[in-house]
Amino acid sequence: MALDIVILAAGQGKRMNSALPKVLHPLAGKSLVRHVVDAARSLNPGRIVVIYGHGGEAVREALVAPDINFAKQEPQLGTGHAVMQAVPLLTNPGPDDLTLVLYGDVPLTRAESLKALVDAAAGGKLAILTVDLPDATGYGRIVRGTSGVSGSRGAIERIVEHKDASEAERAIREVNTGIMAVPTQALAGWLGRLSNSNAQGEYYLTDIVAMAVAEGVAVTSAQPSAEWETLGVNSKVQLAELERIHQRNIAQVLLEQGVTLMDPARIDVRGLLSAGRDVTIDVGCVFEGDVVLGNDIYIGPNCFLRNVRVRAGTRVEAFSHLDEAEVGAHCRIGPYARLRPGAQLDEHVHIGNFVEVKKSTIGAGSKANHLAYVGDSEVGQKVNIGAGTITCNYDGVNKSKTIIGDGAFIGSDATLVAPVTIGAGAYIGAGSTITKEAPAGKLTITRAKQTTVENWKPKAKKKD
Ligand code: UD1
Ligand code: CA
Repeated sequence: MALDIVILAAGQGKRMNSALPKVLHPLAGKSLVRHVVDAARSLNPGRIVVIYGHGGEAVREALVAPDINFAKQEPQLGTGHAVMQAVPLLTNPGPDDLTLVLYGDVPLTRAESLKALVDAAAGGKLAILTVDLPDATGYGRIVRGTSGVSGSRGAIERIVEHKDASEAERAIREVNTGIMAVPTQALAGWLGRLSNSNAQGEYYLTDIVAMAVAEGVAVTSAQPSAEWETLGVNSKVQLAELERIHQRNIAQVLLEQGVTLMDPARIDVRGLLSAGRDVTIDVGCVFEGDVVLGNDIYIGPNCFLRNVRVRAGTRVEAFSHLDEAEVGAHCRIGPYARLRPGAQLDEHVHIGNFVEVKKSTIGAGSKANHLAYVGDSEVGQKVNIGAGTITCNYDGVNKSKTIIGDGAFIGSDATLVAPVTIGAGAYIGAGSTITKEAPAGKLTITRAKQTTVENWKPKAKKKD
């Protein structure tokens, strides 16, 4: 059986009040339609076709990939018309082949639910993902015949859109989520016979259900395990609601894995967070991209970590910002530390408050506890970098390197003008500006001698 997937993403999303096409708005750091594409890919389909609309070039640009086909729908005459645009791009169908229709603005459907729907359609059936809602206003209703068996649902006869439904039909709680798996061979014929004589003057994809029934094609349904899997985004309000649902789900998984979250409602994961044993995360932390935390790690409140690896036993204290950095075992970072791209810390390193490290390796046991900038540097082991130390790595044109040998002691407020080398075990006097190599094991100091002016008097203040 071959499976093709059509993702409808031509809707304008006026209610988002944004220049960005609706399906490109991010949820957990990833566009809505990207969530849908990722779920689609996990089903190993033959073809994926994304239907985009007027002003949707950005959608195409954002998704361009060898396994994704695009079709433009202009004007937008309804969901049936949208799927019609995909038909020429579908695999030449065999009798059991299916086309799965997904919505680009319904981001949280689990792959398991989609698999269950595809399984339900096996053998040439049409399968609809349905859900029972306490308030079904606005949705297409699933109209079923009477069931012979009490308590079981009757056979599906058709779908009626809310605007076309009678009072009795509007009382139906079972709704069309919009997601359906359709026998590909029959699809083109059914779409070709759609009419737009209905309340909205649109070509409804949902009208193919009655056609299938009339032709004796079995119509069946599957239900997702949670209602949120079927929720769509039409406004910023709904986007924010889905973000919270998604974050709650991620937090739940982390808790089940044994991570301690001081408040599961106050963590945001926008990517993949993997954590070892005995990891504690305090409130207000944001994780982006791939973050890997080893065992026995503490992340204090209000930290930001993007594409970071932290090894076992390290503490990251409050308000630290770590971006594209690697932190070794048993380090102490922060509070208020900033690790920028290319910061690589060996074990037992201390990076304290208002210390910024960029594109630098810091050897085991080295410390920069307060107020320093370390950029484009190779720092050896057990180096002590005093408060206020700056590596002057940039001359306005080029970046240059600072090399600091093992055991060096850099006094407070030293200015190391790169390219420059500080030898192993060297001492740099506080306040020095170092422009030449400082030899190993010696004290180098560039301060002017302190003088006191004996006969100095303060100037008389002007009277006003
Ligand atoms: C549709 C279903 C309805 C279902 C509901 C679930 C139809 C006729 N109705 O209604 O049964 O309960 O979804 O949310 O199918 N789109 C296009 N091109 C178009 C029209 C829509 O690409 O011409 C896309 C939209 O961007 C959206 C999806 O299709 O992703 C659904 O469109 P929408 O207008 O929201 O459909 P509803 O009227 O809500
Ligand atoms: Ca909708």
